[in-house]
Amino acid sequence: MDYHKFDNVFAKIGGINALHEIVDRFYDKVMADNTVNNFFKDANMDIQRGKMKAFLMMALGGPAKFTGKDMRQAHARLVTNGLADIHFDTIILHLDNALNEFGVVESTRNDVRGVIESVRADVLNK
Ligand code: HEM
Repeated sequence: MDYHKFDNVFAKIGGINALHEIVDRFYDKVMADNTVNNFFKDANMDIQRGKMKAFLMMALGGPAKFTGKDMRQAHARLVTNGLADIHFDTIILHLDNALNEFGVVESTRNDVRGVIESVRADVLNK
């Protein structure tokens, strides 16, 4: 995947401290949402937050090498359990709201959405 297209998004959202706060805020929203939080019931959320921070840092063009599972493999079991577009859309919305609350401007939020959309087919095992 060509992540370099989004090279400067990591810097635009405010670097590592901003990214960590945004991801924490994002998961607070996800875990408060009964339409998606069930998927995370067996997950260790501290580990999950850390993995998402590393993944997004890499995907948004920051200085990280994400060494976790590929997105298809990481979510395959969830798709078997019903994970679908509607849940993916909800996750995007929570991330967008977290970015917005953090003051990230719309054009940069759209860049982030572009990165996230680029993994939709893998996450949903299409
Ligand atoms: C929107 C794009 C998404 C990205 C970028 C993403 C990213 C990730 C990453 C980096 C991991 C860790 C992989 C590893 O273990 O190495 C992961 C696992 C996981 N994701 Fe996602 N994810 C996305 C969408 C979703 C959605 C829509 C859901 C459910 C509503 C979800 C639920 C989970 C769960 C429950 C795990 C833990 C799986 C396990 O521990 O067995 N993810 N995801």
